[in-house]
Amino acid sequence: MIRFGFNQYGAPQVFQALESDPPQPKPGQVQLKVLGFGLNPYDASLRRGEQAPFRKLSFPIVPGTDVLGSVTQLGEGVTEFAVGDVVINYRPIGGYSEYVTASVGKVIKKPALLGDAAAAGLGQVGIAAYSILQQLNLASGQTLAVLGASGGVGALVVQMAKHEGLRVLAIAGSASQPYLESLGADQVATYDAAPNLAAADATVNAINGGDDHGLGSVITKVGGTLLTTAYRTPDLQGKNLKLIQLGDDRPAKAEVVLPYLAELATTTSLSIQITERLPFSVAGVVQGHELLETHHAPGKLVVLR
Ligand SMILES: NC(=O)c1ccc[n+]([C@@H]2O[C@H](COP(=O)([O-])OP(=O)(O)OC[C@H]3O[C@@H](n4cnc5c(N)ncnc54)[C@H](OP(=O)(O)O)[C@@H]3O)[C@@H](O)[C@H]2O)c1
Repeated sequence: MIRFGFNQYGAPQVFQALESDPPQPKPGQVQLKVLGFGLNPYDASLRRGEQAPFRKLSFPIVPGTDVLGSVTQLGEGVTEFAVGDVVINYRPIGGYSEYVTASVGKVIKKPALLGDAAAAGLGQVGIAAYSILQQLNLASGQTLAVLGASGGVGALVVQMAKHEGLRVLAIAGSASQPYLESLGADQVATYDAAPNLAAADATVNAINGGDDHGLGSVITKVGGTLLTTAYRTPDLQGKNLKLIQLGDDRPAKAEVVLPYLAELATTTSLSIQITERLPFSVAGVVQGHELLETHHAPGKLVVLR
């Protein structure tokens, strides 16, 4: 089988097709034929070598946390799935591959209402969005501002927050305003118009790259919480705010979040915008990683067979 990985850190062109035997499922695991996988900014940082100082991995490195697959083999003791089931798997690495194995706790059946592309791109952004709301721990009726609400993480935070009864201000670039309107936020705004809002109990900065246009501390109430998805520490501008950096804590467990996402996709009209469906090839992965390096149109990048 083929995996899409690299033997050196660098530009998107480091990806190559790597031959290996398909992995065999251990007890409690399933083997999946990968039908598609999501691409995330996290994969690009792995490829650039930014995680090398704290994450010891040996080459070749095959990224990929988000997989849509079809069950092809059952390991000993597996009764939850049958061969042929189409499932979503969240994993630490290795999803850019023709076949993977996965423990059953990290796999859920694909909700029928969710399209293939959305299902392939759901895992990491879903777990991030769930972790964000868990760490903010807001009460129903409180106000949450979401910067970068057009993105993979931001759009899910908006939808989950509405589902949990929060009042939501969704903020993103002007090109994304129609999409924000469709997500059910109470109020939408561009970055330029946002300073007038100034009343959020908490603000999430889900802008890729972490630059929040100087808004995070401005639109959050004194004593409120500013949560950033970026590693860079934001400027609180001397304001008394609680600061949370998403990467500092372990994210919520896939075993908890995947069933929640499946329920959400079944009971609500969950919207996952897809920017680009890329071919299941080295060229497709390279093109996807080139797009990850740009301020591309909002939505998920997915590779599909
Ligand atoms: N710590 C964790 O566990 C964790 C997990 C997942 C993600 N993350 C981080 O969360 C952030 C959001 O992830 P995502 O997958 O939602 O990202 P994304 O969809 O690629 O981007 C989110 C939004 O950021 C804006 N944007 C995109 N590229 C930009 C650029 N080059 N310069 C300025 N703005 C840009 C866009 O909004 P507008 O065009 O509307 O401004 C976009 O909709 C990333 O930094 C990611 O690394 C962290």
